Amino acid sequence: MNAVELARAIPKAELHIHIEGSLEPELIFALAQRNGVQLAYPGVEALRAAYAFTDLQSFLDIYYAGASVLLTEQDFHDMAWAYFQRAKADNVIHAELFFDPQTHTARGVDTGVVIRGLASARERAQSELGISSALILCFLRHLSEEDAFATLEAALPYREHFIGVGLDSSEVGHPPEKFARVFARCRELGLHVVAHAGEEGPPEYMWQAIDLLKVQRIDHGVAALQDPLLMAELAHTRLPLTVCPLSNLKLCVVDDLRDHPLKKMLDAGLCVTINSDDPAYFGGYMNENWAQTVQALQMDRDDVVAIARNSFEASFISDQRRAECL
Ligand code: ADE
Ligand code: ZN
Repeated sequence: MNAVELARAIPKAELHIHIEGSLEPELIFALAQRNGVQLAYPGVEALRAAYAFTDLQSFLDIYYAGASVLLTEQDFHDMAWAYFQRAKADNVIHAELFFDPQTHTARGVDTGVVIRGLASARERAQSELGISSALILCFLRHLSEEDAFATLEAALPYREHFIGVGLDSSEVGHPPEKFARVFARCRELGLHVVAHAGEEGPPEYMWQAIDLLKVQRIDHGVAALQDPLLMAELAHTRLPLTVCPLSNLKLCVVDDLRDHPLKKMLDAGLCVTINSDDPAYFGGYMNENWAQTVQALQMDRDDVVAIARNSFEASFISDQRRAECL
């Protein structure tokens, strides 16, 4: 088995997947029809043709429009169940799913509808597919900290259904420090904390995520390579980075997968993982990310094993489950 074949076959954890980013155009149109929602595109092909992104914001505009078809518990269940089936095919045995409550509450969808729909799909994934999973509630960073506090409050009645919080959406201009107090509150509540940083933003945002939000993982973090001190810190602490190569390619963070910094980060001793981010929009689920990255960066079987081990080391699974997975 060569490195690419091993990358496809090896059991792995996915730690950076926005569940709304797994909504395929076919399902978007099916849900639009079911719910009587009007879309700005005439059909699946026209929508897919619009997936030519120039940066993060150009993607987010379409991503939020796509999520507008999600109204009922069944919709959230169907979306997550479709993801879990894809994950199973890619030998994902554990997944930590981001969800964006504010994208839905802004349209009048109750937080409970979102969480119950996702929770029932998680239970089904465990019982029918043997995939363990968890939910991480993300705050939209282009909105205010006050809005984030209100989102947390609305989610607390469902506290047992999510293990942590994250920070996503438009990065530049919305530094982690904007959310220092709400993250402090989340830590007090015993929630795990992660944040997107260093995707389009500078290394300074990664330092802020570490020092002010006290994150346990950084999502993306590819800007680390611009800052030798930060690289040394990440190598020393093994603070994990959930890297998403095809996302970085589609959002023009890198021009070519062969220029992606992942291999340099791995060689520098960082705890890097490979993830799909928004697979319905970026041209591939886990195995497509793994295979294309391993190929482009000419990684070997040892690299593949190291990245798979990192995915479990970086996950929030119990020590018992981690021991089973490693
Ligand atoms: N929301 C969904 N995907 C995202 C990404 N790649 N960066 C920031 N926010 C997101
Ligand atoms: Zn992301």
